[in-house]
Amino acid sequence: MFITLEGIEGSGKTTQLRHMVDFLKNKGHDCVITREPGGTEIGKKIRAVLLDPDNSDLDPLAELLLYAADRIQHIQSKIMPSLRQGKMVLCDRFSDATTVYQGFARGLDLELINRLHEIVLGDLKPDITILFDLPPEVGLKRAWKQINSGDRTDMETRFEKEAVEFHEKVRAGYLALAQLEPERFRVIDASGDENQVKSDIMNILSFL
Ligand code: TMP
Repeated sequence: MFITLEGIEGSGKTTQLRHMVDFLKNKGHDCVITREPGGTEIGKKIRAVLLDPDNSDLDPLAELLLYAADRIQHIQSKIMPSLRQGKMVLCDRFSDATTVYQGFARGLDLELINRLHEIVLGDLKPDITILFDLPPEVGLKRAWKQINSGDRTDMETRFEKEAVEFHEKVRAGYLALAQLEPERFRVIDASGDENQVKSDIMNILSFL
């Protein structure tokens, strides 16, 4: 089983991932927790380049291909081997983030992105994608609070520094994908407090 988590900055998905893992392990699932970018040792180096706020002149196509490179490495060395061993893989962001951030928000050609997905993903597709939905002003406020308090590094703020309009496009893009594939997506209202969101997710996971 392959579960992915998606959402705008400050949506709380990383915090909820910890609750999800506790819950699923309790139910006896063997879980692998990972993320993109940066789910492998090589990927961590790619992540540093992608999220470094000093790299504001990173070309959008170069950005797209770096996410693809990170993902190929991740799929080949971690995701597929874990799935083959029958493990449950929980991934904080995956290919939908590329469609939405590099496609809908950056404006790169969606056909190009879909072709790249065919090469990078092959037949791999998440079984369930949990989308943490909330207004960008709320998410960005949360994200900057964590960064300014030192809870999150200020070395990874390239996307947080994008205008709120960029994040509006990301949100709208995610909701559009969720409408296209309602059987895969579960949309959660992530604007509530941690416990409310947690209980909504537990409802989704209870049948697994
Ligand atoms: P995060 O790991 O803190 O969520 O940060 C990852 C950032 O990278 C986030 O701003 C979204 C962005 N991103 C893309 O633009 N495209 C992608 O394909 C992925 C996986 C992430």
